Amino acid sequence: MSIPDQKQTSASSTPPYSGLAGWINRRLPVISAFRAEYVDFRVPRNLNGWWNFGAILTLVLGLMLASGIFLAMNYTPTDAGAFLSVEAIERQLSGGWLLRAMHMTGANLFLAALYLHLFRGLYYGSYKAPRELLWLTGLVLMLMVMATAFAGYLLPWGQMSYWGADVITKAVGAIPGIGPTLEHIMTGSDHLGDIFLHRFFVLHFVLAFLIVGVVGMHVAAVHVSGSNNPTGVEPRTPKDTVPFYPYYVSKDLVGLILFAMVFATLMFFWPNMLIEPDNYTPADPMHTPADIEPEWYFLPFYGLLQSVPSKFGGLVAAAGSLLVLFALPWLDRSPVRSMRFRPLCRIGLLGVVCAFIVLADAGKHHAQGGWLIAARLAGLYYFGYFLVFLPLVSRTEKTRPLPSSIAASQGDA
Ligand code: HEM
Repeated sequence: MSIPDQKQTSASSTPPYSGLAGWINRRLPVISAFRAEYVDFRVPRNLNGWWNFGAILTLVLGLMLASGIFLAMNYTPTDAGAFLSVEAIERQLSGGWLLRAMHMTGANLFLAALYLHLFRGLYYGSYKAPRELLWLTGLVLMLMVMATAFAGYLLPWGQMSYWGADVITKAVGAIPGIGPTLEHIMTGSDHLGDIFLHRFFVLHFVLAFLIVGVVGMHVAAVHVSGSNNPTGVEPRTPKDTVPFYPYYVSKDLVGLILFAMVFATLMFFWPNMLIEPDNYTPADPMHTPADIEPEWYFLPFYGLLQSVPSKFGGLVAAAGSLLVLFALPWLDRSPVRSMRFRPLCRIGLLGVVCAFIVLADAGKHHAQGGWLIAARLAGLYYFGYFLVFLPLVSRTEKTRPLPSSIAASQGDA
């Protein structure tokens, strides 16, 4: 019995597949699905460079998994062996230095691309209906990526790994009620050693693969709602969109090549640029480093953590700064998406970026004097923007006139 080719029987313009492609497609329509989602898929014609970061993130995720698997084959998750095994990868394993440089550079650039990707969504209002679930899956990804990066940073078991773990496990232990139990689940014993490292190695490895699954959902959600665009106006006529191939395949390729050049430059010339020198000293529970500070991408949250006098309060502030983003689609009541047309909210949002940078700077300094005041003011501004300013101003703000269509916004009415 022959199985009908869905596409052959439909009135769509998709060509019928013959030979092996037709045989596969009739049984599992992956070829026609790929064609529908990545060739014929209609995308707004006016996407700018900010829309490259989704493709960039996907590429870096692939590189992280590929390099991570080979690193894991040579890593020993024990108190006595972890630091030495990483040194052996760097110095004795053939090509090991390249694997590690790729993984470290990848981690830094992944987080940088993630923040830019998130900012794009904030600026162009991509979290608004009908893209709420797309936004929420993105935030889940962000939490998973942060947990993976934190677990990964512990694995070399240098001084910063150890003392970073000490700060976080104690902060978790300070949660009223369940804190001590959670701390015990993390550490597995009364000190940070073999059991702890084993658990975080497994967590790091497993989370990385779970992220791939959630990325699948995230990208599926993009394909259901379609991409937003810099005007925030939905496409109305075929003139407003172009097919993904060749237009955005080539545009994404340009973005990927530029990004690959930055990646290669950092990886080959400055692989250790963002690494704390202290982490090349083996973990020593008897000697606390003068300054304990996390990787740059956690600094704003660390700044918040330090700015509140109680450990638990600090944890609530740091976690709350991420959780508040989950409510964003419902906090922002404006019918207009893009900040291009929302002068007051745009200034407010740029203030959030400044507050984030101030918090990061404060996270690098001891929480006292001017830095403490700056961190508290920046924290108040951050929460004030999302919880007070945006809900109030988004209802009343006088927005600039929207273009009648995407094509019209480019003078092609
Ligand atoms: C592992 C991390 C992530 C990967 C691999 C990823 C991948 C992608 C891809 C491939 C796209 C479509 C291309 C594009 O619009 O750039 C996209 C769109 C989108 N992503 Fe992500 N993403 C990630 C994390 C996030 C995060 C943390 C957020 C924010 C909460 C987010 C929010 C969005 C939104 C709102 C869109 C649609 C944007 C629009 O059409 O305007 N993503 N993502």
